[in-house]
Amino acid sequence: MKGLNRQEGNLFIDNVSLEEIAKKFGTPAYVYSASKFKENLNNYLSAVGENDKICYSVKSNSNIHILSMLSELGSGFDVVSGNELKKCLKAGAKPENIVFSGVGKTKEEINLALKENIFSINIESGEELDRIIGITKELGIKANCIIRVNPDISAKSHPYIQTGLRTSKFGVLKEAVEPLAKKASQAGVVNIIGIASHIGSQIFDKNLILENLNLLIELTNQLTDLGHQISYLDLGGGLGIRYKEEEEILPNQIIKQVLSILRPLKLNLILEPGRTISGNTGVLICKVEYLKKTSELNFAIIDSGMNDLLRPSLYHAWHHISVVEDNTEDKLPYKVVGPVCESGDTFGEGRMLNINENSILAIHDTGAYGQVMSSNYNSRLRPPEILVEESEIKIIRRRETFDDLLIQEKDV
Ligand code: LLP
Repeated sequence: MKGLNRQEGNLFIDNVSLEEIAKKFGTPAYVYSASKFKENLNNYLSAVGENDKICYSVKSNSNIHILSMLSELGSGFDVVSGNELKKCLKAGAKPENIVFSGVGKTKEEINLALKENIFSINIESGEELDRIIGITKELGIKANCIIRVNPDISAKSHPYIQTGLRTSKFGVLKEAVEPLAKKASQAGVVNIIGIASHIGSQIFDKNLILENLNLLIELTNQLTDLGHQISYLDLGGGLGIRYKEEEEILPNQIIKQVLSILRPLKLNLILEPGRTISGNTGVLICKVEYLKKTSELNFAIIDSGMNDLLRPSLYHAWHHISVVEDNTEDKLPYKVVGPVCESGDTFGEGRMLNINENSILAIHDTGAYGQVMSSNYNSRLRPPEILVEESEIKIIRRRETFDDLLIQEKDV
């Protein structure tokens, strides 16, 4: 079995019981399915041609073991920091399969990207282009860049995860693309090889992608008329996954439609999927510490907090919560909360569960934007990450210890 499944009523990841993992490695812990990662990546890779690029968005889950696994399977990478870039290279990624986005690239990060000769730096402003021109001249090399345009399209998702509105900090406005490209060619050291745009995350409306595509094609035509050789359209990431009842757009279907438009134009496609590759691969397992009943509510206080999984607190995001052991009878509604000293430390309300102290719970679909957004708030130790492949269990990040907490403060 691939990914999360029930066997005789008990929750498993692939062929390994989550109850067993909790017993062996403790809670809280992130547990991922390698097979599910592979299946998700393959949904993309099998739909594109050899000149297109699937650049997994590292920010969604940047564990180096996951990066190596995806790299070996033929994935490229979308990075947003020098350290993500270094991690990908360490994981064995080929520089020619890496694109680098982000509005605040430092001189050091640009230097690194240029020296490593990555596929493209995605330019997010005129100021950044000036910096790139300066550094390429210093290094005596040429840079391949893609211009990231702000498409002024709403992703219709939570405001924090929309990136393509005119007022957002990302990309350059449509009307600024042409002057930017002109400046690049006048400098003589920056080749503009493509146009990019990422509308935002959790997209369920196919028309938004097609609208974005049309805009990129229109801009490509403008730049081609100016003599630029545009070969790549980078549509970013953002396809949504089903956390509750959302209807997902299937990657292969939308890619087929997009490629049928791009092929006659002799343009190649770049995609930067994050959540659709990592999101449904894993769960956060945790233990019920207390069942606290008040005259108002039943609280299930668990041993994991907003420091481990921030999405419910930050975006009011909905994640299924289920009991790992076979469990059907006598359910009660619970407000599932963590131990952190904030009322926002809540994972779900009115969740129908049959639980006791020490019951093991699984918070679903936490493979993306879970561990990567964790912190040590309340001096809590971050959970381990465990990768399951069929019946094999591999610890890919150990649980933090109290010494880990102190080590960076020791010499102060
Ligand atoms: N490309 C760019 C330029 C991005 O900014 C992002 C996500 C992606 C690709 C990948 O998007 P995805 O396919 O994963 O939707 N922490 C938030 C999500 C923030 C996404 C930021 N950018 C959450 O937990 O929902």
